[in-house]
Amino acid sequence: MAESATVTVFRFDPVADVRPRSERYEVRYEHWHGVKVIDTIRYIYETMAPDLSFREPCRQQVCGGCVILVNKKPVLACAVFSEKEMVIEPLPDRKVLKDLIVALEEEKGE
Ligand code: FES
Repeated sequence: MAESATVTVFRFDPVADVRPRSERYEVRYEHWHGVKVIDTIRYIYETMAPDLSFREPCRQQVCGGCVILVNKKPVLACAVFSEKEMVIEPLPDRKVLKDLIVALEEEKGE
């Protein structure tokens, strides 16, 4: 049976946007079990928001490149399962390069 989730995603393109905004997406899954947060983000990207930027370098919980906030908690998006209600944001105290991508230490430019 199909299940759905409500996912609110931080969106901001410093080149084009005056300020950040939140976009809400209704995601329907045919099979809910085993859906990782990174799968949900990729699904949103592939079906609703082709301009959404995020990182998923290894998808194997190795590199740390997919770390984001889910419901205010820092997580590896490729490691944790999706929830029915999620607010997905970039890490705080980092410069946002676009959407969920933040500057790495060497990219901070400070
Ligand atoms: S994509 Fe590398 S740890 Fe998640």
